[in-house]
Amino acid sequence: MRPERITLLENKRIILAVTGSIAVYKAVDLASKLTQAGSAVDVIMTEAAQKFVAPITFQSVTGRSVYTHLWQAASGVSLPTHIAHVGLGEGADLMGIIPATANTMAKLAHGLADDLLSVTALAARCPVVIAPAMDGGMYEHTATQANVATLIERGAYLIEPEEGRFASGLVGRGRLPETTTLIGHIRQILGRDGALQGRKVVVTAGGTREAFDPVRFITNHSSGKQGYALAQAALDAGARVTLISTTRTLPVPVGAMLVPVDSTQDMLDAVLAQTQDADALVMAAAVSDFRPATKAEQKIKKSADDSAGLTVTLVRNPDILQTVKARRDATGSPRVVVGFAAESENLLEHAQDKLRRKGLDLIAANDITATDAGFAADTNRVILLDKDGSQEILELMTKAMVSERIIERVALLLG
Ligand code: PMT
Repeated sequence: MRPERITLLENKRIILAVTGSIAVYKAVDLASKLTQAGSAVDVIMTEAAQKFVAPITFQSVTGRSVYTHLWQAASGVSLPTHIAHVGLGEGADLMGIIPATANTMAKLAHGLADDLLSVTALAARCPVVIAPAMDGGMYEHTATQANVATLIERGAYLIEPEEGRFASGLVGRGRLPETTTLIGHIRQILGRDGALQGRKVVVTAGGTREAFDPVRFITNHSSGKQGYALAQAALDAGARVTLISTTRTLPVPVGAMLVPVDSTQDMLDAVLAQTQDADALVMAAAVSDFRPATKAEQKIKKSADDSAGLTVTLVRNPDILQTVKARRDATGSPRVVVGFAAESENLLEHAQDKLRRKGLDLIAANDITATDAGFAADTNRVILLDKDGSQEILELMTKAMVSERIIERVALLLG
């Protein structure tokens, strides 16, 4: 089990073209993470990029030749032709110009072809991703903006630079995003023709919080990891994804629309609103079955007469999946509904009962007593049960892999 592998990135050939910006150091990390994820990364460096980082650095993290000039032969690696600028572009799955300087974007916008990067960009037939990075307000300049607009109009995919502090000490828009964000964008492009292209998938994540005064609430150990991994897997399959989450600490997968919620009632309202036009709902959230009967306006204080303790009366929460079932029985939407069963005993029996009662197409039963599965772990042990009575036992695997298997089943159910 290699947690850094990403199925969508496995066996992809990515051209990473780097230009002369201090942000080149971030491109080294990107090249390393893409390689670890399973891609073959061919790096092109402009002359200016080599002032910041030496080619050997990229060669070390990718294990492949680095291309620095136009007349270089494509040797020692499996490129489709021996002429570097043609061979690199031919058969590549994606070309990323990361970081892209104002100068390189100006050249590309005008179709100049005077170095390996610009010639390869003209020869490449794959999607081209441009992530600008520049200091001192250059990104906002009208000339740069006009070049960006031209490149987008011609089909390039732009990763917007972020605002923040530059190497010069100035503050503004022009910083290259962090590696996870860059990889999130790359995944979105590579996955856009996937099995869920054109579908909307709603995923819930995290443990609901049921407050009984302004500072205290009842919750559970759900970290949101399983739900976030499901959202990413659905994005990788090309879906539009809405993530309804109580979690505030995990990075939202690039491309997902986040709907932050706290209580079960909030989550119910969000699920009903978001599933009206959805194809599938996946309920990975750990929803509290009970909530305090009342919520105090002010913080509850200790007092002289509470030495025997404080009693909080709990009342039943609505069942979100059962509410969705009632509406689905009437409207047929969403077409596919997947639930989870978090059980500490009689796993299959309870999961089958929930599958039937909640009108699910599929349920992922997880044993929450195992330390390497269920709440907060990075891995999970799941048995998938479907409404036709079939069972698929998944071995111990990362939550990302569990999610891929569930999303594959969702795609099959949607046809
Ligand atoms: O978030 P992590 O730390 O990654 O942990 C993942 C997980 C263990 C939370 C996840 O894998 C999981 O099992 N989620 C479902 C937890 C749960 O609430 O299970 P349940 O057996 O109590 O509920 C069954 C199903 O009904 C679930 O899909 C739940 O979302 C849903 N439900 C529950 C109660 C309720 N009032 N309304 C609901 O819709």
